[in-house]
Amino acid sequence: MAQTRFQTLLTDPRVAEARALLSAALQDARASVPAAIVPPDPALQGGYQAMMERFGEARGRGLFFPYLGSGLGRGAFVELADGSVKLDFITGIGAHPFGHSPMELLDARLDSALSDGVMQGNLQQNPESLHFSERLLAEANRSDVPNPAPPIDGKPRFRHCFLTTTGAMANENGAKVLFQARAPASRVLAFSHCFAGRSLGMSWVTDKHAGRIGVPKTLDVDYVPFFDPERPERSSQHALAVLERHLERYPKQHAFFILELVQGEGGYYTGTPAFFRALLERCQQAGVGVLVDEIQSFGRTPQLFAFQHFGLDDLVDVVTVGKLTQACATLFTHAVNPGAGLLSQTFTGATSAIRAGDEVVRALRERGHAGPGGRNQAIYDRFTAHLLRLQAAHPAWVAGPFGIGAMLGFTPFGGDSKLANRLLTRLYDLGLMGFNAGSDPTRLRFLPPLLVVTDAEIDFAAELLERGLTEIAAEANLA
Ligand SMILES: Cc1ncc(COP(=O)(O)O)c(C=O)c1O
Repeated sequence: MAQTRFQTLLTDPRVAEARALLSAALQDARASVPAAIVPPDPALQGGYQAMMERFGEARGRGLFFPYLGSGLGRGAFVELADGSVKLDFITGIGAHPFGHSPMELLDARLDSALSDGVMQGNLQQNPESLHFSERLLAEANRSDVPNPAPPIDGKPRFRHCFLTTTGAMANENGAKVLFQARAPASRVLAFSHCFAGRSLGMSWVTDKHAGRIGVPKTLDVDYVPFFDPERPERSSQHALAVLERHLERYPKQHAFFILELVQGEGGYYTGTPAFFRALLERCQQAGVGVLVDEIQSFGRTPQLFAFQHFGLDDLVDVVTVGKLTQACATLFTHAVNPGAGLLSQTFTGATSAIRAGDEVVRALRERGHAGPGGRNQAIYDRFTAHLLRLQAAHPAWVAGPFGIGAMLGFTPFGGDSKLANRLLTRLYDLGLMGFNAGSDPTRLRFLPPLLVVTDAEIDFAAELLERGLTEIAAEANLA
């Protein structure tokens, strides 16, 4: 079979030998990382502290956690540069689905190291960009989901995929696509407490004051309240009424509704199919585009795309993915495909990120993460069983809702932000890494390395969580 010189290089016996040696070395190094919490090595601690201070100085502010990875880990366990080992249940907010030092990505990364350049971009892309785009499109167009979208002009609904380097940029690209398609409409609809990134445009979509202090206004955004699980009927009616008021107040002026189906930074809240459908059908009727932001949720919900889980396939014009996909992407229908010149970038991603993203999505599919009875649901069920047990024993310590799929969240201590953040820090010290989400109530979230996390590791995380809760409750004199 004909092959390129690059393909020949990949099969060169010296490369095969080096690959085997590197694989064995990494395998051994991984095995040397204990599957346990390990305290810092006193001989490394001084240097670590100094690096932390220098980093704070270089960045202009300290790191959230005193975390600098050593470069080695073993799935859910990671070694830090002070020699300590922690259980990583946040994975850079969902960016390391294979955990640390994954053998599964070694070939992709070695091939990328031999590939001609570090980065790919619009003018110079290699076949892996095509393969990754096609895989994402195939996943978005699946027919074995609860409510598959009918074809458009005999073709699958999502026809196009534009790669980029960050989630914020994927959203910016999606926003531009829909602004052009709905020009001259210039307003945007979004959910209260949403997060869409920190670019100039997205910081005005993101419903967080701190993220836009001093930033000139770039977009007019009208907010719609999110689903309230405590008042499902009333909150659904209220959201629809608020949407209606915005549409009446600014007729034909909204280009699109940008929404997370699972609010990530907002606190791991989600809605029901009926809640989302009612709002999005009204948008469709009013000629308002629908941009679903799945930067945080993609790959983690019980179907790989959250819009598939909620059966909204027929209502989405643009969907964005990121984080666990390594390289980010904007997928859209042909009807909104923009004219030349609107989208272009020097960099669409590092070759290794694009190859790794392709492997991640393939693994999510092939390892049975999607669908009823899939691994994402099993991760949720296992972790949630622990939360329910803790909640039953200590109702003041733990409250739901608990997230969805491999996005795990709960409200500690009634959502008191001081106690929640103390718990987060205590868990870090005990060796379990999680993160906060939302405010009023402040919640805790976990994004385990879903492709490799074991049931035993989930149980161990729950054990550390219980220890942290017990200690903070004792300090705060809570029953
Ligand atoms: C829902 C959502 N959208 C967009 C972004 C922005 O992604 P990035 O940080 O890669 O720019 C994030 C990041 O947390 C996110 O959670």
